[in-house]
Amino acid sequence: MKNNNHQSGEGMKAVICTKYGPPEVLQIKEVLKPAPKDNEVLIKISATAVTASDIFIRGSQVPVMMWIPMRLMLGLRKPKKSIQGLVLSGEIESTGRSIQRFKAGDKVYGLTGFGLGAYAEYKCMKETDSTYGCLAFKPDNLSFEEATMAAYGGLLAFQFMEKGNIQPGQRVLIYGGAGTSGAIAIQYAKFLGAEVTAVCSTSNLEMVKSLGADKVIDYTREFSFKQEDKFDFILDAVGKNKTSKLKAACKKALSTGGKYASIDDENLKLDSKRLSLIKKLVEDGHIKPVLDRTYPLEQIADAHSYVGKGHKKGGVAITVAHDGILHNR
Ligand SMILES: NC(=O)c1ccc[n+]([C@@H]2O[C@H](COP(=O)([O-])OP(=O)(O)OC[C@H]3O[C@@H](n4cnc5c(N)ncnc54)[C@H](OP(=O)(O)O)[C@@H]3O)[C@@H](O)[C@H]2O)c1
Repeated sequence: MKNNNHQSGEGMKAVICTKYGPPEVLQIKEVLKPAPKDNEVLIKISATAVTASDIFIRGSQVPVMMWIPMRLMLGLRKPKKSIQGLVLSGEIESTGRSIQRFKAGDKVYGLTGFGLGAYAEYKCMKETDSTYGCLAFKPDNLSFEEATMAAYGGLLAFQFMEKGNIQPGQRVLIYGGAGTSGAIAIQYAKFLGAEVTAVCSTSNLEMVKSLGADKVIDYTREFSFKQEDKFDFILDAVGKNKTSKLKAACKKALSTGGKYASIDDENLKLDSKRLSLIKKLVEDGHIKPVLDRTYPLEQIADAHSYVGKGHKKGGVAITVAHDGILHNR
């Protein structure tokens, strides 16, 4: 029988956010499990993530310039979507009648965009790209948790690295090599044949070097570039809110004709073709996302507190267990 509410009548665990505020606004509740429409798939979520975007969206640190546009899109006084969560990976549980790309049992990863809803056991999504998400087959050699890092960090890194049209032998600087996107940007630049310099703080020097950077600079100790340090492409991978004396000096270190791009220059594109390219490069061993910590869904507020401090190494994933037990009811 057709269910007009597109809910199955069964329950599921979800993280509900009914107001903007500190991590404690996130509460685990039981809600109705969704059911797919004809043009949707139902995803059994195995992992989600706490990204820089999730922290902004929860409402505590939205930059003044972005406050009005973000609140118009996400909800003026309270979130339009009570279930937050931008990134997911999991398995297709069932498909609507018109679905062609996916079948039950396929393992997928992607972003939910303005549809949000990844902080739950299940999520319905269209198979086509829109501002309400993009979905692709998950890289086989990654855990569900790692796949969430590849989806978010990969989409960000690839979109903005493409601005550089990087050629083999070119000198590339990744400012912020220790974040989810920066860690992938370093590896992508190496794959493209660039000579890569990466910037991070003291505690991340070794980790960033291990990602393949030819040279690593500590922004807490170096405040300018040497005269001979010139770059054909510079990517600010941490966004316009995070800066330092060294970052301010970046543009002067561009070679003649060099390009500078910030990961905040334009909106993130939700692009399943790009997710498929990321899958290929991950499976071919060129890119490995960095997973800092994993929390269970029940500790999502702790994960938000940690990520909110702004110094995660790579990304933070959330494991979604389907044990039928509702913790912290
Ligand atoms: N265009 C869009 O639509 C869009 C969408 C989503 C996100 N974004 C942007 O993408 C950014 C990147 O997100 P992400 O998850 O990859 O990384 P992130 O979480 O923003 O960055 C974490 C990293 O930032 C580094 N960091 C903190 N302060 C720094 C500073 N002053 N200078 C240099 N590095 C600093 C930290 O490393 P250290 O501990 O070494 O400092 C940490 O590893 C977001 O912050 C957001 O601005 C844009």
